[in-house]
Amino acid sequence: MLKMNTIEQELADAVQAALCTAFPGEETVGAFAASVVKTADARHGDYQCNDCMQLAKTLRLAPRMIAEKVTGVLRENQVVESVEIAGPGFINFRLSQTWLEDRLALVESDAFRGTPQVGEGQTVVLDYSSPNVAKPMHIGHIRSTVIGNALDRLHRYCGFRVVADNHLGDWGTQFGLILTGYRHFADQEALKASPVQELERVYVESYQRSKEDESWLDAAREELVKLQAGDEENLRLWKSFVEMSMGEFHKIYDRLDVRFDLERGESFYNDKLAEVLETLQSKGLLEESEGAQVVNLEEEKLGVCIVRKRDGGYNYATTDLATVFSRVEEFSPETILYVTDERQQRHFQQFFSVAKKVGIDTRMEHVWFGLMRLPEATFSTRQGNVIKLEALLDEAERRALEMVESSSPEMPEATQRAVAKAVGIGSIKYADLSQNPQSLVTFTWEKAMALDGNSAPYLQYAHARIRSVLDKYADQFPEGKPEEADFALPEPLERELGLKIARFPEAVLVAARTYRPNFMADYLFDLAQTYSTYHQSIPFLRAEPGVRESRMRLIRLVADTLKTGLGLLGIEAPDRI
Ligand code: ARG
Repeated sequence: MLKMNTIEQELADAVQAALCTAFPGEETVGAFAASVVKTADARHGDYQCNDCMQLAKTLRLAPRMIAEKVTGVLRENQVVESVEIAGPGFINFRLSQTWLEDRLALVESDAFRGTPQVGEGQTVVLDYSSPNVAKPMHIGHIRSTVIGNALDRLHRYCGFRVVADNHLGDWGTQFGLILTGYRHFADQEALKASPVQELERVYVESYQRSKEDESWLDAAREELVKLQAGDEENLRLWKSFVEMSMGEFHKIYDRLDVRFDLERGESFYNDKLAEVLETLQSKGLLEESEGAQVVNLEEEKLGVCIVRKRDGGYNYATTDLATVFSRVEEFSPETILYVTDERQQRHFQQFFSVAKKVGIDTRMEHVWFGLMRLPEATFSTRQGNVIKLEALLDEAERRALEMVESSSPEMPEATQRAVAKAVGIGSIKYADLSQNPQSLVTFTWEKAMALDGNSAPYLQYAHARIRSVLDKYADQFPEGKPEEADFALPEPLERELGLKIARFPEAVLVAARTYRPNFMADYLFDLAQTYSTYHQSIPFLRAEPGVRESRMRLIRLVADTLKTGLGLLGIEAPDRI
């Protein structure tokens, strides 16, 4: 495997070295970490460095003076064709044509398309999806599943060891309500036919009764206490609820091509909760407040974190503490990521703060996302206002099948179905992943499936279109060997395309580092658009021999990059659409 840096990093290293040459013995320069970013406007070059402004103070020199000294050294560098100073002291780079062409050959041969394995030797525990048992997975859960899974794929691709854990809500207060409801009005026929739907109905109705009827709530509490005390009958029922739910969740995960390394759920930590209290006690962190046990976080302006309720029950935060102790011991992760919706921000702030007080120094991040809105509704199981994920996926595949049937009527039916699955499921995932996770997403079919917009079908189509050009080429020129042609980027559009391919690793890293898969989506959309312009304006099959092969090799790399990038978002790229 090749060890490659991103172009940004390679240029930053060159600037760093140039600074040291230009200012020998200068301590601030030695300790400085130069940085280079891509230019916002291609007319200014490919990359730029803004460091001279920052160094002006410490070096007591005008930024332009520094830039002049540095560029004097940088011009010798093979990577760049030109280095220019702009404005008060920006340095703009244009990459050397031959360097870029050679770079594409490296990218093509590298298993990770030039992505540096920055995660090597590091472990990330990724806590995502984590639906609640006996409630159906509704559309609100799709974001955690889809975003979490993309982060999983992106991190593995950068060399991290990822431990993906589905932290199911399989324990806790809802089971009191479900058990009581189950005893009074569960419909056994419906339970067999559609278990999770029936369990949800039972839960919703039981929840509503508990709002109107104090004694119903008491009965539910009693069932819960019995369950927690290990009552055989309640445990047996609970287990069956868990199994029914898991069966249903797994149907969805299979359809979404989502897999976990662990599915431990909250119940796994049940017998470790008392220990959490002991640990907190021994560190002098426990206080009593109105009969409950709490950790006081007033100093951090986070109120109090309840770890044991007045009735003796443990809380969500207590389970998360037990879970983090266990994860740290078992996996020694560098980072733990929690992917949930924005409503849990306070919970994670409190829990992280308590964990730190207890001595956990692992980096923990709450990767939160905004809620997803369908035009007329938001989602809450309690209101019974659920659009089930399954129905959404069915509808997506149905719409995609219509699309494929009309665009490729000659395709065998089984292939049409497979393509419709890739396009339908891909559309749902992409509609979610192409947005900043922290924004509020309004889902519409028109946007998700637009053939001419920023959507999965658009990208899948761009990919399939290249594959079909490559097939035509193979038909017309059976003797042709594009792999033996050199990458050549004489046309400006060609160079732009080549440069974008070479930037793929930068998109991977930024998406992984910021926990925002939408950076990968933006990258892919941009690449596909550039390709589309290229496709319309540059002849390939009719180009002269040699040039033609070069172009085939280039567009094949575009297709491979699109496919790899979509794969990192968990989206398939079929060869035909
Ligand atoms: N089951 C929770 C819910 O659906 C999400 C769990 C997130 N993970 C965690 N470690 N707290 O709201």
